[in-house]
Amino acid sequence: MTIAVRRLAPSFCGEVCGVDLARPDDETVGAVKAAWLAHKVLVFHDQLLDEDALVAFAGRLGEVEVHLRQTRTSGRREVLLVSNKKENGEPVGRLGNQELNWHMDQIFMAEPTAGTLLYAVEVTPEGGDTWFCDLGAAYEALPPGLRDKIDGRRAVHSAATADRRVGIQLTEAQRAHAPEVVHPLVRTHPLAGEKALYFSLNHTARIDGMSEEESLPILEELRRHATQPQFVYAHHWRVGDLVLWDNAATMHRRDPFPDHFARLMRRVGVNFPHDLRVPF
Ligand code: OGA
Ligand code: MN
Repeated sequence: MTIAVRRLAPSFCGEVCGVDLARPDDETVGAVKAAWLAHKVLVFHDQLLDEDALVAFAGRLGEVEVHLRQTRTSGRREVLLVSNKKENGEPVGRLGNQELNWHMDQIFMAEPTAGTLLYAVEVTPEGGDTWFCDLGAAYEALPPGLRDKIDGRRAVHSAATADRRVGIQLTEAQRAHAPEVVHPLVRTHPLAGEKALYFSLNHTARIDGMSEEESLPILEELRRHATQPQFVYAHHWRVGDLVLWDNAATMHRRDPFPDHFARLMRRVGVNFPHDLRVPF
C-alpha cells in the first residue's frame, strides 16, 4: 500500500490525505511509518479520534509512554492535555497560552521519546501555530566553523533547566525521575541513519565540559542556523488535525495566542523499541 503524501517544506514535512487513523489496517500503518521516517513530520486532516482511538493508533507506531508531568485523574493517562482552558478555576491541561520556545519533547529523559502525536480538539483563529525545523538538513548545511565547534561534543539536559528557563514547576517526585542526562549534540537517527543536531533551547543546560555561559551562545548560534526559513514549516491548526513528529530529527515551537480563545490538544508520546533508544 502507498499513501499520497504532499511535501509541505523543502526538506521535510508531509501532508497525508485519504487515511482514517481511527481504523488503519496493517498496510496503512506500515505506509504511515515509512512516510513518517521519510518526512519527519506528518500532517493528517479531518481525523475523528477520541482518547482511546488516539492511544490505539499511537500504539501501532511504537511503545506508548505516560508523560513525566502527567497529572490527570480522569481519562487516559497516556494522553497529556495541552490547553489554556480552565474548569472551576483550574487548568484542564498544560502549557497555557504562552509562546513555547524551540524545544524537543523529553530530550531530558535517559531514553527520550521518539515521536509525539498532537491532535487538535479545539483551535484558535489567531496564534497557536506550531513550527517545526529540520535538524538533519540543518546539520548537513552547517557552516564548517560551527560544525567544528560541536562535532564530537555531548550536551547535558534536564527538566529542571526548562523549569528555570520558562518558569514551569516540577514536583520533587517528578524531579527525582528526571536528573541531568548527557546525549550527543549530533545524533544519528536509529532508523534513518541520518545525522541531526540534537538539543533543545529549553532543556539543554550546557555543552558537556563547558559552562552554561560558554554554551548558550553556541546553542543560540545553532538555533539561529537551524530555524532559517529553508528548514522550517509552520502549522496552522484546524479541528481534527493530527500532527506526528520525530523528536530525533526535528525541534518545534509554538506561537502564543490570546487567552480568550480556547485551545485544546491531546498529546501522546511513543518510543522506539528498547534496542533502538540509546546509544545514538
Ligand atoms: C508540547 C508542544 C505544541 C503546541 O506539548 O510539547 O510543543 O502547539 N505543544 O501546543
Ligand atoms: Mn513540545
